[in-house]
Amino acid sequence: MRVICKEDYDSASRAAADIIAAQILLKKDSRIGLATGSTPVGAYKRLVEKYEANELDFSDVITANLDEYRGLPKTHDQSYRYFMDTNLFDHVNIKKENTYVPDGMEQDAKKACSDYDRILEEKIGRFDLQLLGIGGDGHIGFNEPSDHFCVNTQCVKLEEQTIKDNARLFFSGDESAVPKEAYTMGIGFIMRSKRIILMATGKGKRDIVEKAFSGPVTPYVPASVLQLHPDVILVGDFDAIPETLRQG
Ligand code: PGA
Repeated sequence: MRVICKEDYDSASRAAADIIAAQILLKKDSRIGLATGSTPVGAYKRLVEKYEANELDFSDVITANLDEYRGLPKTHDQSYRYFMDTNLFDHVNIKKENTYVPDGMEQDAKKACSDYDRILEEKIGRFDLQLLGIGGDGHIGFNEPSDHFCVNTQCVKLEEQTIKDNARLFFSGDESAVPKEAYTMGIGFIMRSKRIILMATGKGKRDIVEKAFSGPVTPYVPASVLQLHPDVILVGDFDAIPETLRQG
């Protein structure tokens, strides 16, 4: 694993955006896995700036997102489709039909998951680059701690901590507004990516980053599986990345 540790959120976001930009410059039709949450917002801002400065062309890029709340329509301001549109897709020249997010409005969970797995197989095959955040409980995508690593897209019951963490983003700010279930890409497809960037910033992530990258590989800390991937870049700031993981 390579570690890029910057002094603050802004520089970490620039570093992550630079890696994504380099990927697109080297391969115009890159398949890129994208994440939502507060962490990648700064990186998406930088990518939009690069696009506006004519440094990047998204016209052949194909993306697929990790997850979506079950039951939220695309138009809901906390749906992950809405997040992607407003933070990135609406501001660059990506073709919306080349951007995939699980369908939160498909009530039949089995169908929602198999439909998404089919899209991943047919349209992506394997990500050139997958961007990840990390949940306070170690989740990647919405793959919550469990007794096994889930390979395929699944419908998950969100952990209390995840619901608590995400409530701040909902209009009323209370936990009852947060959906209790989500569809998430499985760990198998994430691990198939050629390269993975995991972004972690802020003091709140320090303990889980330590557990995930210095502790045992266990499905009870889903991100720990990344220790077994041959090309992971951990990008973060001094608050989130413990000294023991920093290099150079
Ligand atoms: P955050 O979420 O970026 O809002 O901290 C990360 C995650 O849950 O994966």
